[in-house]
Parts: sequence; structure tokens; C-alpha cells
Amino acid sequence: MRILGIETSCDETAAAIVEGGTRVLSSVIYSQVPLHRPYGGVVPEIASRSHLEKIPGIIREALAAAFGDDLEAAWKQVDAVAVTYGPGLASSLIVGLSAAKGLALALGKPLIAVNHMEGHLHSVRLDREDLAAADLYPQLGFAVSGGHTCFIDCPRPGEYHLIGQTLDDAAGEAFDKAAKLLGLGYPGGPAIDREAKKAPPEARAAIAFPRGRIDPAHPLPPGLRAGLCLSFSGLKTALMHHLRRDPADTPEKIAVVAASYQEAIVRALAERCDLALQSGSYRSLAVGGGVSLNARLRETLTALAARRGVKLLLAPPQYCGDNAAMIAGLAGTGAGIRQGALALDVVPNLEISQ
Ligand code: KG4
Ligand code: ZN
Repeated sequence: MRILGIETSCDETAAAIVEGGTRVLSSVIYSQVPLHRPYGGVVPEIASRSHLEKIPGIIREALAAAFGDDLEAAWKQVDAVAVTYGPGLASSLIVGLSAAKGLALALGKPLIAVNHMEGHLHSVRLDREDLAAADLYPQLGFAVSGGHTCFIDCPRPGEYHLIGQTLDDAAGEAFDKAAKLLGLGYPGGPAIDREAKKAPPEARAAIAFPRGRIDPAHPLPPGLRAGLCLSFSGLKTALMHHLRRDPADTPEKIAVVAASYQEAIVRALAERCDLALQSGSYRSLAVGGGVSLNARLRETLTALAARRGVKLLLAPPQYCGDNAAMIAGLAGTGAGIRQGALALDVVPNLEISQ
């Protein structure tokens, strides 16, 4: 199966062609970051308008990159159209879903609607012909981005149980907010990552930021375990207080604050990952989402996986952030809604186990 994937859940307009679930023939991503930068975060109205403008060109580009410039011939090579229908921003999701419905109807191809978070977990298998799905399960899924921070128990392909998540800010938001306070611009994750690398390793322990623990008695929805949940809202407040007492007014101080702050997030995430790994007999740890680009997180998870004897599957850098290859690939494994997909609406708060 060669599938055209379409992804517009947040601020990336993306289209891709993937064969057989994992072989990426093309992946085109238009990032709207420069449009949102002046506002320090994603503005939904700007995002949806930009998706609308860009999506026809991005789809054409993905088709041409996979099959050549003859679009009529290219369409004949596509077996189905896959699209994200949630979770994400409603006004963004609707652009991709409408485009996918229109194409599926006009071309007489099946429509497959998939879950964006499942896509992030599938991203670890893209371009990895060496991985046999049967060797990877039971799997612990860890999706960490600007919108999500969650741990997912996957006993077998296609079965997901949400077991832990942030109760407030996502890890990416925690990075973005800190960068704003430090005057490092948007998006904050890459900036903090870069600044932290300028500090010596001992700077990671220079400032004691909270590690995201929650009250064990905090009421949680069914299935979630308190030990695997986190809260990042206190972290930003701690940084604010720290900067009031001791402003980061030199490049050296900025680097030290970035390194300590990043370490608090990385430790918080790794601690939950470790607890989750110990709670099951996992064979692999699959990590996707924009924050999984973070060098210190990758290093820490590599050490953790080696210690716990599980295979670490990190998404290739080009598929860490939002992309359509993970959507087309996931659909190629048989996942997603096929029956009645044309009548489906977007589901902005779609859960992974649904
Ligand atoms: O997956 P993504 O592209 O979009 C969604 O949120 O779905 O993730 C974007 C997030 C942003 O918060 C950004 O600051 C963060 O990923 N990010 C990073 C790094 N690169 C991107 N966070 C930490 N370190 C990085 N190197
Ligand atoms: Zn995402």
C-alpha cells in the first residue's frame, strides 16, 4: 500500500507518501514557526488560515517528490488517503480532514482517519526496515511534545493504555515558557538545548528546580498512575522567582540557568520513564514528539534503556516533530478508522486509547 498522509493538527502543514507502513517515499513539512514567533506561541486563527493556503501546494510537492512531476500519473500510484482527525487544534485539524475527504471522494480512494499521538509512536519505525514489529512488544510509548507528555502502555501493536501524563503544561511548553523568561525567543526547546550545551556539566546541578512531582493523593482519571504523572506549572514559577533574585544578565548565567532548568525537565521525564519501565516487562521504549530532539533527554534515555535492558527507539530527527510520514505510515500498518471515515468530524481532545 502506498498512502498519502496529511497532517495539520497544530502549526505544521505536512504531506507525505509512505509505502508499506515504514518506507518513506516523500515527506514535506511547512513549519509556521516564523508566523507565530511574534506572539510567542501558536495563534489558532493564523495557523488555520496558513494551513488553508499551503495545503494544496504541500500535497502536490509530496506527490511530485515521490512519483515525479506528472501529477495525473502520480495520483494513480496512491492507494489511500490518511489524515489526522485528533487530537489537536479544531480549526487546524479541520483543514487537513476536509482536504483529505475532498481528495478521497474526488479520486475514489479510501480515507483512513488516524490518531496523531499514535502517529508519534509510529514515527520510530519510519525508514527502519531493520525493525520487526514482533520484537518490539510489549512496548512503552513516550510522546513528548509542545502539546503532550504522556506514557502509553502498548502490550501489542494497536493496543494503547494511557498510564501517565502531565496534569498541566506539556514538557515542550515548559521549555517554551522558560525561553520566553530568558529572552531566548520561540520555540524555546531548541534555544534552551543550545544554551545548556554552553554550560559545564556541573551546571546541571547549580540551581535546584522542582522535578515535577505531584501529590500522590491527587485525583486522577481511571488508568492513570500517580507515580507516572507530572506537573510542570511549578517549574516556571520557580524559574520566575529565581530570575527575580538572580537575573540571568550574562551569557554564562543564561547557560547555567538553561542547563539546570533543562536537567529538571529531563530528570522528571526520565524518572517517570524508569518507573513505567519497571512496572511492566517491556521490550522497547518508543519515544516521539518535538521534545525528543533534546540532546540531554536522548542521552539520559539512552543510559536508562541500557540500564533496564530495553531497546530504545528514538524517532529519527526529521520525524520527531509533527509530520505526515508518521500518519501515512501508521495507516499503512492497518491502524485507523476506515469504515465511515468520510462522515467523521475532528476530535480535538481525542484520547490515545480510543
Ligand atoms: O512535536 P512538536 O513539533 O509539535 C507539537 O507540539 O505537537 O513539538 C514542538 C515542541 C516545542 O515546544 C519545542 O520547544 C519543543 O518541541 N522542542 C524541543 C527541542 N526541539 C523542539 N524541546 C527541547 N529540546 C529541543 N531540542
Ligand atoms: Zn505532535
